[in-house]
Amino acid sequence: MGQVTRTTSDTQSHKPLHIADPADAPWWRDAVIYQIYPRSWADSDGDGIGDLPGITARLPYLRDLGVDAIWLSPFYVSPMHDAGYDVADYRNIDPLFGSLGDSDELIATAHELGLKVIVDLVPNHSSSDHEWFKEALAAGPGSTERGRYIFREGKGEHGEEPPNNWPSVFGGDGWTRVVEADGTPGEWYLHIFDTTQPDYDWTNPDVGDEFASILEFWCNRGVDGFRVDVAHGLVKEEGLPDWDGPLQMLDATDTSAEAALPPTEDESARIHETGHGPRPPMWDQEGVHEIYRRWRSLLDEQPSPQRILCAEAWVKPESQLARYVRSDEMHQAFNFDFLDTHWDAERLCEVITTSFRENDAVGAPTTWVLSNHDVVRHASRLGLDQSLPRPNGIAADQAQPDADLGLRRARAATMLMLGLPGSAYLYQGEELGLPESTDMPHESRQDPTFHRTEGKHIGRDGCRVPIPWVRDAPSLGFGPGDATWLPQPDSYGAYAVDQQAGVAGSTLELYRSMLAARRADRLGLGSASWHELSSGDVVAFVNASADGSRETLVVVNLGAEPVSLPEGATVTHWSGDLTADGLVPTDIAVWATV
Ligand code: GLC
Ligand code: MG
Repeated sequence: MGQVTRTTSDTQSHKPLHIADPADAPWWRDAVIYQIYPRSWADSDGDGIGDLPGITARLPYLRDLGVDAIWLSPFYVSPMHDAGYDVADYRNIDPLFGSLGDSDELIATAHELGLKVIVDLVPNHSSSDHEWFKEALAAGPGSTERGRYIFREGKGEHGEEPPNNWPSVFGGDGWTRVVEADGTPGEWYLHIFDTTQPDYDWTNPDVGDEFASILEFWCNRGVDGFRVDVAHGLVKEEGLPDWDGPLQMLDATDTSAEAALPPTEDESARIHETGHGPRPPMWDQEGVHEIYRRWRSLLDEQPSPQRILCAEAWVKPESQLARYVRSDEMHQAFNFDFLDTHWDAERLCEVITTSFRENDAVGAPTTWVLSNHDVVRHASRLGLDQSLPRPNGIAADQAQPDADLGLRRARAATMLMLGLPGSAYLYQGEELGLPESTDMPHESRQDPTFHRTEGKHIGRDGCRVPIPWVRDAPSLGFGPGDATWLPQPDSYGAYAVDQQAGVAGSTLELYRSMLAARRADRLGLGSASWHELSSGDVVAFVNASADGSRETLVVVNLGAEPVSLPEGATVTHWSGDLTADGLVPTDIAVWATV
């Protein structure tokens, strides 16, 4: 905030925001990556839970959609207390999803179709069902086995209080006390997420060696990269000091009283010096970078094509996040600042400017993302009151999104995103304009967030509902039977793939045409500069190829008045109808040649 982003001189001189990449840039610099949440994409056996054979069978749909790669949320052996982000065996597939043979087949089929495969790596914590954790419990205090996790004595006369005051991101305490082999209450272990997700101690060399070996295991099975879960959390500040500030992960909302307090004098000085507030002792510690340097060199030693790392790191400001994508660390980091931006032209321009500046400074491609399995779907989010923070789920008795408005804006927002140079992440179902499920009965909810906060935070189930493929089929074509692990709202039938495929103007066809043009014109490798139309409620920039042979004007109108395009501009793509005079109406985006 605070910096001038679209000065007159910038727009008039077309000062580049970002310089084009060469045409032979590596694949990941401009890749469009489609996130599959395996539980919810396609079910082959009718148990109501999506699985790997289901995914493999439907991969041609993604080739036809026009994406470059898929990222699969975890499919490993897991007791599923956090939908698979609690891994019990990193080298095997959960029987719910299939077998190692099924993952081999999935990877081979994807490659035949020209799709790269990125898998999820969960290195901050294991499941409490992991062999190492079971051994740690059995071996007792002071053992080598306990040293792989963060076990500590409790405070208080009998160790009855947790070692520090850290909460869990999902609500409740960040520590759980164990019962020792002799039946007495014993040490506590740290879990930044659910009780069933004990945090590793990354200062223990066993942990680093184990993850290097896991990376190699999946490289040998042919994967093209890793999305790294909670990449900013692996290393904790020495001494595990108490922390009274907000945790700020997953939630944009922080309603704690502390968050409302103005910074102390010391904090203000630090913010001034470093550009960010006090750093929570569980996040973004300097030690994480050494880990990613090791992984980068491990991946660089693999045969081509290049395998990549993408950080899920909820780190602010962007200059701090960019440190994860320095040339010897990860390749990409999710741009959550972009996802968190309200429908506000000024703010969008600021985020776009900052994203290019900070990523270009370290030579990394900028990524763009609007939806994933942790946030309210953007077709619903953008239909909510834009003056309120992004909610963690929406319940039936809360303010409901305006579905038409949300979809109209979502289509425009996606046209903005796919017109920007860099790499973009899509979340399954957004290509259908799928809204969040907001009428799910609480009994159906599975997200630990809902249960650990006793329903205060609704949680993430609403964006994880099984995908509608066929309107008039059991489970809307998700599987062969009626079963779905979360209920599908009645409204979903109208969004089914078979209702949109081949239908002019449908959201699915809009995505297909944008992705085809983005690929043909190499928009992801282009340059970007603000266009003079960009001011007030209008976001407008030109994306040009390195050799100057192509210029695409991207215009998004977030204001009340229709916007006229420059003379000679020919509209090639539009997120919704233009006015009879060819003006761009409210909440509509276009791509045009100039
Ligand atoms: C990441 C995942 C989220 C998971 C959490 C704990 O934020 O995206 O789904 O619950 O990490 O692993
Ligand atoms: Mg199944």
